[in-house]
Amino acid sequence: MRSYSLIAPAKINLYLEIIGDRPDGYHELAMVLQSISLADKVDIRPIEIDTIFVQCNHAAVPNDQTNLAYRAAALMAQQFPEAMAQYGGVEITIDKQIPVAAGLAGGSTDAAAVLVGLDLLWKLGLTQGELEDLAAQIGSDIPFCIKGGTALATGRGEVLSPLVNLDNLSVVLAKYRSLAISTPWAYKTYRTQFGDTYVRKAEDLQSRRQRVHSGGIVSAIMQRDRAKIGQLLHNDLEKVALPEYPEVLQLREAFASQNVLGTMMSGSGPTVFALTESERQALEVAETVRNQLANPDLDFWTAQLSSTGITLA
Ligand code: C5P
Repeated sequence: MRSYSLIAPAKINLYLEIIGDRPDGYHELAMVLQSISLADKVDIRPIEIDTIFVQCNHAAVPNDQTNLAYRAAALMAQQFPEAMAQYGGVEITIDKQIPVAAGLAGGSTDAAAVLVGLDLLWKLGLTQGELEDLAAQIGSDIPFCIKGGTALATGRGEVLSPLVNLDNLSVVLAKYRSLAISTPWAYKTYRTQFGDTYVRKAEDLQSRRQRVHSGGIVSAIMQRDRAKIGQLLHNDLEKVALPEYPEVLQLREAFASQNVLGTMMSGSGPTVFALTESERQALEVAETVRNQLANPDLDFWTAQLSSTGITLA
């Protein structure tokens, strides 16, 4: 039986607005999610014994149930036991290129790749919607990772509306290697500090969702207005992460001092990205900021915005 190699791209948040609490304990969000060309490779190989193995070339990535890729395979095995009985277990090998605990959905995109890979391996023929429903059971941004591209995400982050592709823009990203921000910490701290501003009434919730659909960043994207997209980048979680981590603020300011379209922390951080007109400019900004901050703990990447989610390698 054949194996599958999948490309699993990272994402950045061009927009992240926290609207309120949800009955399920999560936050009601309005986000614009964007795939980028920085990607992991995920290999899915059938094995004789009825079990799930995960291995990864990055020491910080666990190979047990705490790994989202493992959880994706376990969910598929639970949902389709006859497929597992017919085809056997699976060995998942992750070639990790996306920084870990960075706000770039690295774990989520690996899980999305496992769902897509097992659908192929087990010849299930699941629809995009069925894959997204399974994905939402494992994590809020995994449904987006399957199809990728540029999308408005509401609800917990799993209700997706595709927007136009922005794949001619580039991005430079930087992260302190030793710094990781816990996503639950970021949301919990936000709730403690800003919970009194949360929208509570159902009709107000609906009008806030509408406001984002017809709002500035979405129309800037639909018009592919690069300058405006750069100006309208937004992330509410910066309000808790930047005061707590001054080095992240310093990095953001260093990017902002360059002639970039815009700069922002991605997701719950601590990765900071800057949008640039070209790959060449992204490389130049990386070099300048690397020299300016001269911190050996800082890693830089450049990438293109991408219109694809999980694809075959
Ligand atoms: O869904 P996921 O497991 O990726 O979420 C990680 C954490 O982020 C959740 O446990 C929760 O603390 C927070 N979160 C949230 N509201 C969302 C998405 C995530 O509060 N819509």
